[in-house]
Amino acid sequence: MEEKLENIEAEAKAAIKEATDLDGLEELRVKYLGKKGQVTEILQGIGDLEPEQRPVVGKLGNQIKSRLEALIEDKEEELKELLKQKKLEEEQIDVTLPGVKEGYGYQHPLTQTLAEIKEVFLGLGFSIAEGPEVEKDYYNFEALNIPKTHPARDMQDSFYISADILLRTHTSPVQIRTMKQSEVPIRIIAPGRVYRVDEVDANHSPVFHQVEGLMVGQDISFSQLKGILIEFAQEMFGADREVRFRPSYFPFTEPSAEVDVSCIVCAGEGCRVCSQTGWLEILGSGMVHPRVLEMSGLDPQEVSGFAFGMGVERIAMLKYGITDIRLFYENDMRFLEQF
Ligand code: FA5
Ligand code: MG
Repeated sequence: MEEKLENIEAEAKAAIKEATDLDGLEELRVKYLGKKGQVTEILQGIGDLEPEQRPVVGKLGNQIKSRLEALIEDKEEELKELLKQKKLEEEQIDVTLPGVKEGYGYQHPLTQTLAEIKEVFLGLGFSIAEGPEVEKDYYNFEALNIPKTHPARDMQDSFYISADILLRTHTSPVQIRTMKQSEVPIRIIAPGRVYRVDEVDANHSPVFHQVEGLMVGQDISFSQLKGILIEFAQEMFGADREVRFRPSYFPFTEPSAEVDVSCIVCAGEGCRVCSQTGWLEILGSGMVHPRVLEMSGLDPQEVSGFAFGMGVERIAMLKYGITDIRLFYENDMRFLEQF
């Protein structure tokens, strides 16, 4: 029996020494020292031995039990330490590796242009108004002096949702909404998205952006319109830029004018960008038509006003020398990163 115990101890010692993980070690503890473990069973069977054998086997069994317990405990410490080292190694960070560079974000050139337009007009005392993109035919056309059969409807080919509702073709309906809602004097700009059934080309998109302007009060005159728009053009494009007012026609303004600035490319010499004219159109404008004032509930005998509407894409193209409007919508990073 003593020999058997010594063999068990030798076997157990070797197995413990070889153990490579905590689960395996626990299995060994159960195998030798657990309730039904080999050493435990011998100690429990001591009663069946010869009387003189009992103290000898009992003493040796308990010594082996203690020694194995100590060994297992040491091994457990060792394995835990190893595990910790391994974890530390895995989580190690090499601070000498080169970093992964995240690119900077850019504001879209249209967003930047719009922000600049707003800044100029906020500086001139204008505030910002808004209107819906899905608009009533009444606000988009009728109240702007463009009745159903008016040929001017052909100037803006529209996306209709129903007979009376459409996607607004310009920001001018915000003029009507503002005049109906607000007290005079009025001094607003209304930026937003507009929609037209236009063929896509270098200068046209079916969805684009406009900024409307409206100033209404007592004795508002065409010279004030000129002053504000010249100020705007020079803030936007530089003080050395020439601005001209060219007679034009809109049903909702009278008189009407379109505003041109001297060409950014040739500075007035005449080139392909300005179709050899030396000028580039930036907006439409005019004195608010008396009928439009009336339809908005104002008395043309008491108040007058001017309005203007510009294409944001057009302004951005002129400002940055972009020759194709489609570049704004394609989200090509090589283009966007230049702003
Ligand atoms: C108007 O939309 C008038 N509501 C402007 C106005 C407001 C006049 C207030 C008088 C008083 P027009 O259709 O010309 O006008 O459009 C104005 C600008 O929008 C144009 O100068 C052009 O820059 C831009 N634009 C027109 N169609 C497109 C298109 N398909 N794609 C991109 N820009 C466009
Ligand atoms: Mg025009």
